[in-house]
Amino acid sequence: MADWIRPEPLNCADDVPIVTREQDAPTVAQSLCDGQNACVGDLYSTGLAALAEVRRLLSSDAQLDTYEASRQNRRAYRQASHRLLVPIRNREIALRKSPTIGWLVELYPDISDFHLTFPQVQGLNSSWQWYERGVELPGLERRLHPFYGTYFPTRHDHLALFDEWLRSYTGQKDKALDIGTGCGVLAMMLGRAGFSRVLATDTNPNAIESVRRDLKRLNLEAGIEPVVADFLGEETGADLIVFNPPWLPGEPEGPIDEAVYYEEGFFERFFNGAATHMAADARLVMLFSGLAEDVLASSTHPIEAELSSSSRFGLVQKLERAVQPSSKKTRRRKRSADREKVELWELQRG
Ligand SMILES: C[S@@+](CC[C@H](N)C(=O)[O-])C[C@H]1O[C@@H](n2cnc3c(N)ncnc32)[C@H](O)[C@@H]1O
Repeated sequence: MADWIRPEPLNCADDVPIVTREQDAPTVAQSLCDGQNACVGDLYSTGLAALAEVRRLLSSDAQLDTYEASRQNRRAYRQASHRLLVPIRNREIALRKSPTIGWLVELYPDISDFHLTFPQVQGLNSSWQWYERGVELPGLERRLHPFYGTYFPTRHDHLALFDEWLRSYTGQKDKALDIGTGCGVLAMMLGRAGFSRVLATDTNPNAIESVRRDLKRLNLEAGIEPVVADFLGEETGADLIVFNPPWLPGEPEGPIDEAVYYEEGFFERFFNGAATHMAADARLVMLFSGLAEDVLASSTHPIEAELSSSSRFGLVQKLERAVQPSSKKTRRRKRSADREKVELWELQRG
């Protein structure tokens, strides 16, 4: 069986209460918040109703106007909602009026009957919709179909910034490295820009499977090589290294979170490896979101910190672009997005 990341199959203990639409949803929600597990027994919508009540219960008396408060609220919701289980039989959701999720067949060839938590099923469901429909990304002519657990950008300002930079690039185009490739968008832009060989790395095996499948589907297999590797792996001799790293300091709670959160020491480890493996005349391009600095007053900017504390790298140029606020955002998030910028840092060895 392929070594993909998937929600761990669970057993449901015999004494876990079964909830149906006959039960009062606020009472079910209260028991989930109080630490009790439950398993949905009739309709998919019974689970949705219980979780809507959990959300209402947790936000009714909470002040959610700071980053820390909304983080705590999300954590409380996560804990309560994952206590609600969903039965899977024959790799299908064993509830009436449920969505069909192809991932249950693809990711669980070794087990047919098990349980998952309701949010895990919701995650699998929305991922399946994206996979089936595909996502359109500026800079690519064809849609990508992100595999389960693969990061793909939902805002595109960094792609426009990278495209702008790539058009002005006049260096060698023999080999590029796209580190943390996710759905592979930057690797494909590099291929389209004429690099003969593009190595796309990610620590997440699902991301690498995602890129492999899309390259095959798009008939672009020549020239782009997706590999599971930490940062650059052992690769040397690239003319250009590109990295759009996770941008929020924090503890990733699993490999999927590693697209967004980075642990202490992450950037030090990256810059160390890049300085060792990078040719003297090569370029390192990093895309970065200024969001962390904006919402976390205490956060330091990892690229600025590298440049000021070490002479391993020097700045060639920095480009910036304001993030376009999405019309669907809440007013609070919109205010934060108004201040947010994406940055492109072009560095060379110091
Ligand atoms: C913000 S996403 C960027 C994805 C894609 N390059 C893009 O621009 O949309 C960061 C990616 O880095 C990957 N990643 C995190 N730590 C990594 C590491 N140590 N080595 C390689 N990839 C890593 C994550 O799995 C994720 O796919």
